[in-house]
Amino acid sequence: MLELRDITKRFGDVLANDRVSLAVTPGTIHAIVGENGAGKSTAMRIAYGFYSADSGDVIVDGQPRRIASPHDAIALGIGMVHQHFMLVETMTVAENIVLGIEPGSPLALDLKGAEARVRALSEEFGLQIDPEARIETLSVGQQQRVELLKALYREARLLILDEPTAVLSPQAVEDLFRILRGMRAQGKTIVIITHKLSEVLAISDEVTVMRDGRVVGNRKTAETNAAELARLMVGREVLLRVEKPEAKPGGPVLRVRGLSLKDRLDGISFEVRGGEIVGIAGVEGNGQTELIETLAGLVDRKDVTGAIELGGEDVTALSARGRKERGIAHVPEDRQRRGLLLDFDLAENAILGVDERPPVAVGPGRVWLDREAIRRRAAKIIQAFDVRPPDATLPARALSGGNQQKLILGREIELPPKLLLVAQPTRGVDIGGIEFIHRRLVDLRDSGCAILLVSSELEEVTALSDRLLVMRQGRIVAEVDPARTSPGDIGLLMTGGEAAA
Ligand SMILES: Nc1ncnc2c1ncn2[C@@H]1O[C@H](COP(=O)(O)OP(=O)(O)OP(=O)(O)O)[C@@H](O)[C@H]1O
Ligand SMILES: [Mg+2]
Repeated sequence: MLELRDITKRFGDVLANDRVSLAVTPGTIHAIVGENGAGKSTAMRIAYGFYSADSGDVIVDGQPRRIASPHDAIALGIGMVHQHFMLVETMTVAENIVLGIEPGSPLALDLKGAEARVRALSEEFGLQIDPEARIETLSVGQQQRVELLKALYREARLLILDEPTAVLSPQAVEDLFRILRGMRAQGKTIVIITHKLSEVLAISDEVTVMRDGRVVGNRKTAETNAAELARLMVGREVLLRVEKPEAKPGGPVLRVRGLSLKDRLDGISFEVRGGEIVGIAGVEGNGQTELIETLAGLVDRKDVTGAIELGGEDVTALSARGRKERGIAHVPEDRQRRGLLLDFDLAENAILGVDERPPVAVGPGRVWLDREAIRRRAAKIIQAFDVRPPDATLPARALSGGNQQKLILGREIELPPKLLLVAQPTRGVDIGGIEFIHRRLVDLRDSGCAILLVSSELEEVTALSDRLLVMRQGRIVAEVDPARTSPGDIGLLMTGGEAAA
């Protein structure tokens, strides 16, 4: 259905695609994997007419085609769902779907007709979307399905999904995969980019592996496995398990007593000692995010009761900045909203949080910024955390998602903190990067830091944590030893013993 033949694309000095060739069989699900920056999105944006190739051919249904814009791609039956949705929040599903269809086109004529067609498509593909719902009332997973509907409405036969699962909870991933399998059964062809090899194995028929702008392998999914794919992607063996020595915890660093947040957290008490990683497992939306934000000082203090102690000092009344100065670092789950200033350069982003203390802030009243100190700090973080490309003058926006994550982690770990609050540390990060981040967290632990970890990946929390707390409905309902408790048992605690569907 789609073939790329010898596609080459440069951005300045970067060779993003180097004679990329791949073929997508009609009626199949084709996965594309590769490290951050390997050129996956670039290749698919070329197929969608978002970028034009410097050389090479795009072949659709056996014919070489000139795809100069997404408009040309859509006319050939190619649709793409981007990671950041392009929907107007205040409008309805149907309005969003007809939006952008050229006025005068028969498709743009009547909204009622559009609603009926959207409803029919939603039913046909099991999307469960109400065409009259306003976008802002929908969950992330539902908004993604609106993007799918938009492509289906335009009669896409080939759907390209760029990291659709990165923003989804595990349950929503299951729903999406059910929908994709249904689409395949109805003859659609799907290309999916993902970093999770378990997802590749679960959903795809074929897989193409990219590295450094090139295609380095192509397999039938049934004839490969996670270890082989990992080796192809990274060019070496990858530890798919976390190797960590026994923890040697010291005294308590964080002490939480009867902590409540209006309507969200209910009487939470626990400790994290220096030199240990305490994980929090829970079904998304059970207060994990709020707990981290409350500890970081990011919620309205009027809504908080109970006490938070850091190294014996009560910090409950301190602001977020005051807590950071006492040694609390925070890696937020939403890196684009809370973690970075996207239009500022990497050097400026690297000093967020230390911009009011030496060696960065100097002079009387510490009101001057020492440019050389900033440059040195940024260079150290970029080097130590392998941020690519290693150019401190780039805006944060120009980094791929995984590299943004490494920059934030580097900044927080270099503080260095007494307590690290870390949420979803490896979201959007490739497997080599995951291994690297896990190792950094274990090193930080072994240097005596206390770490509180939240992740929606049960595998990640159980592998990294020395102790595991289970949260449900804003409370801690159990503490378990992750090395001695099965995922099934943890799942039961997370759901309150109801059928762990
Ligand atoms: N618009 C652009 N301007 C400059 N460089 C770019 C642009 N888009 C991509 N690049 C560079 O091209 C290379 C390939 O990027 P691409 O986004 O295709 O990678 P990817 O495989 O999708 O990575 P990720 O898994 O992190 O999304 C990277 O080095 C990236 O920095
Ligand atoms: Mg990409």
